[in-house]
Amino acid sequence: MVHRRMPRPSELAPLLRPAPLTLDRTAAKLARATSIGDLRLLARKRAPRAVFDYTDGAAEDEVSLRRAREVWASVEFSPTVLRDVSRVDTGREILGGPSALPFVLAPTGFTRMMHTEGERAVAAVAAQAGIPYTLSTMGSTTIEGVAEAGRGGRHWFQLYLWRDRSVARELVSRAAAAGYDTLLLTVDTPVGGNRRRDTRNGLSIPPSLSLRTFLDGARHPRWWFDLLTTEPLTFESLAAGGGTPFEVINRVFDPALTLDDVTWLRENWPGKLVIKGIQSVTDARRVVDAGADAVLLSNHGGRQLDRAPVPAELIEPVVQELGDDAEVLVDTGIMHGGDVVAAVALGARAALVGRAYLYGLMAGGQAGVQRAVEILRAEVERTMQLLGVTHIKDLRPEHIRLRSAIRAPAHPDGGRAAGAPGR
Ligand SMILES: Cc1cc2nc3c(=O)[nH]c(=O)nc-3n(C[C@H](O)[C@H](O)[C@H](O)COP(=O)(O)O)c2cc1C
Repeated sequence: MVHRRMPRPSELAPLLRPAPLTLDRTAAKLARATSIGDLRLLARKRAPRAVFDYTDGAAEDEVSLRRAREVWASVEFSPTVLRDVSRVDTGREILGGPSALPFVLAPTGFTRMMHTEGERAVAAVAAQAGIPYTLSTMGSTTIEGVAEAGRGGRHWFQLYLWRDRSVARELVSRAAAAGYDTLLLTVDTPVGGNRRRDTRNGLSIPPSLSLRTFLDGARHPRWWFDLLTTEPLTFESLAAGGGTPFEVINRVFDPALTLDDVTWLRENWPGKLVIKGIQSVTDARRVVDAGADAVLLSNHGGRQLDRAPVPAELIEPVVQELGDDAEVLVDTGIMHGGDVVAAVALGARAALVGRAYLYGLMAGGQAGVQRAVEILRAEVERTMQLLGVTHIKDLRPEHIRLRSAIRAPAHPDGGRAAGAPGR
């Protein structure tokens, strides 16, 4: 039997206390976002359809991206208990320099299209957070502009090599002069991937005003206002002309790249050299023998070859092959700090994240990128605490099992051949 009574006013007051009033609606929405998935939903509302799809989308049937995300999600953690985890150190050395977290912000082309604050905002957040940021060759901010916006931070530069080597030589020396310490050579783009959403949306770079985009503009007035009232949106490091992303890539990049180009770059770049887009044990070994300091296991966020190997599944065999000869980095499909922890436990030195921070950028400019990094940071820290691990170096393969959705015969190369997604 429950005895009821009237509540006293003094008991009601704390319950009725209103939430603090935030006049900035974007800030309030960002504060309410509790995951990268929440930021993605905000981004979808804020950015024009074609811009959101360019970021969110992948190639062909988008199987590469879906599988990569499924494998991260299928990770099973194995916690250890009764360890003092009141203090956790998430810092780690990556390619000879410090990083406050075991992840790096990946290069993404034309970042000012997602939000006018673009690469400068991302560089500023990375510097504040103490993690490296990688500027893309297809960036919409200059090499020097990013170094200035991210003063005090570590800058990495991503290079596409194309037919005219003098341009690459000039970019590389500008990056060295501006204090960039690491160069990523992307090798998974001999030709552009077929990104169907861009074709369907009629996306052109830079965005042009057609009847369709004009109508869409009515629903995203802020984005269009920003576009039309700020510095024109252009590629800052190359004269690529305009067109669809596919046309731009195919006009600029060199399908004839070989290992000799890695050797050439090694001779022309004084800092650390990472080869981005490695998808097999054999290729990892080849580029390291040619002078690379690290390989980045990546299928370009699923934007190039569809049904490609899942990068998470390549970590262990590649680490085993390379030993202490080179560092192993990984990206594609990372949406949670727990994915980063899993990557490190499997043997990666660090992970890179692309869309995760771009969703934040589209959702709210620099404040959105900051929210994305904060969400990932808190997830990394919490996952480590729940695993009973206080230092990144103590994360071990014993802490995780990859319960891959994809079960197929072992790949001859040591990775696992992709089969049908099971979730
Ligand atoms: C919108 C967008 C643009 C990208 N542009 C580049 C680029 O210019 N150069 C490059 O090497 N990789 C580029 N990437 C790939 C990323 O560097 C990274 O490999 C990928 O985003 C990782 O997957 P994730 O987005 O699931 O984290 C781009 C990715 C996205 C989403």
